[in-house]
This record gives sequence, C-alpha cells and structure tokens, in this order.
Amino acid sequence: MKKILDIHQMYQESVQCVEAEIDFVEATYFEIRGNHARYLREDFCGTGQTAAQWVSRNNNNKAWAVDLDESVIDWGIHNVLPNLNQTEDLVYKIADVRDSGINNMDIVLAMNFSYFLFMQRQTLRDYFISVRKSLEATGVFFLDAFGGYEAAKELKEERECDGFTYIWDQASFNPINSEMQCYIHFKSDDGVEYNKAFSYYWRLWTLPELQELLTEAGFSKVDVYWEGTDEKSGEGDGVFKASKLGTADAGWVCYIVALP
Ligand SMILES: C[S@@+](CC[C@H](N)C(=O)[O-])C[C@H]1O[C@@H](n2cnc3c(N)ncnc32)[C@H](O)[C@@H]1O
Repeated sequence: MKKILDIHQMYQESVQCVEAEIDFVEATYFEIRGNHARYLREDFCGTGQTAAQWVSRNNNNKAWAVDLDESVIDWGIHNVLPNLNQTEDLVYKIADVRDSGINNMDIVLAMNFSYFLFMQRQTLRDYFISVRKSLEATGVFFLDAFGGYEAAKELKEERECDGFTYIWDQASFNPINSEMQCYIHFKSDDGVEYNKAFSYYWRLWTLPELQELLTEAGFSKVDVYWEGTDEKSGEGDGVFKASKLGTADAGWVCYIVALP
C-alpha cells in the first residue's frame, strides 16, 4: 500500500522557514523601534505557521491569522494550534485581508508573495492602505518579494525533501501584463504524485512598482532588505540588510519593510 501524504504537511516542510522569517521580523522591529512588538497579524496565513511561531517566542505575544480559505484555517486549527502552550494567543479568522477588522497591530505580515494575487495597481494599493490603517503609529509592515531574470521564465525546479520531492512550476508567464501561472507539485518517494497541489495565478510585481505603491498608500518610509552573499559559496548568507543596491541574480528573494 502506498502511503498518502498530507499536502499541507509537505508544504510546511518544503516551502516555509518560519523560524528564520520570525528571527528577521523580531530583530528588524527591535532595530527600528527600539522595543519589542507584541501584536502581530499574519495576512494570507494559510495554516498559520508563522503566526504560531510568533506566539511561541514569548508569553506576551499575540497573533491573528487571516485567510479566506476555510479549509486551510481548519487544518491550522487542528494541526498547528494544538502545538502551542497558550492556544488562546493565536486567533484564526476567515476573512478578506482587506477587511479583517483586526487593527492596532504592531506588525502585519504579507509573506510568501501572497499579495501578488492582487493584480491591479488600484487593488494592491487599496490593500496597502488597509494595512497602514490597521497598524499602530509605531507599527511595521513586512512583505517578501521574489524576482530576477529567471522569475519570468517558464521552468520547473525540483528539490529533494524528506520522503518526497518538491516541484516548483512556473507554467506560464505573459510579458504583456506580467501575470503568471505557478504550481507546486509533490511526488512521494514511493511514487504518488500530487499534481497542482497548490496553484497561484498572480502578477510578478517589480520592486520599484511595490515601493511606489506603498508610498502612494501613505507609508512614510519603505526599505528593501537585500540578502548578503557568502564569500565562500557565492550563495545568499541569510542576512538581510536595508539596501539601495541589489545584485542582478537569476533568482532572488528579499523583504520589504514599510513604516506608517
Ligand atoms: C501563497 S498562499 C500563502 C500561505 C501562507 N501565508 C504561507 O506563507 O505559506 C496564499 C493564501 O492566501 C489566501 N488568500 C488569497 N486571497 C486572499 C484574500 N483576499 N484575503 C485573505 N486570504 C487570501 C489563500 O486562501 C491562500 O491560503
């Protein structure tokens, strides 16, 4: 009998590194504001892993995790929430991120490029305006972004994970509107295929566009945090710093940090 694996479990193990993400968020907030953030909202939360990581860091931390999809939230409630010591400190909410009603936040996160799903300037700007309004005056908005000359290419990349293969599929890209179809497929070591386990039709936004839209949405300061390079390997070193000069890599991931 071939074993059936859980796609959310595989996603968690292959896509997310919530520890590193929260390390960055925690340290950067402290560097900017000089104190510790407590209230965090994770937009497009999926199963809410990042919000859970936030709550697990400190007994005073509280998080709200927002997603439209009832099934992913349900998975989080049954598989992520029970691992926390203080389950009441993580609140899931099924809502549109533009209208979740969760305000007065120290931190709002929009990670894993999920806001790329808003494909018109006006729609994305409206989302950014709603985030700004939901932050404390001392709050910070964190986003990630990806790009590079291979980001707009139709390609498939495979990575071996424990018990399965993760396949990232940039299936189509339209240069006229920058919209692209991406999929995540999985294949278990005993040959079970999970085709199109996750599907994303979104716009590949550029960093200048994103910085301009955040500024138009009223954010007073917008910085791109670029990853340093490990001298020996030539690969990224995992250290992201505010920077005005990036490198013309084939594929990069960076953070954007915006202050209201
Ligand atoms: C790329 S996944 C990211 C999941 C998770 N944040 C992560 O980091 O792995 C995008 C998620 O955004 C949710 N989503 C899409 N549009 C949304 C909206 N307008 N409001 C709330 N959630 C939305 C989808 O249901 C999906 O779970």
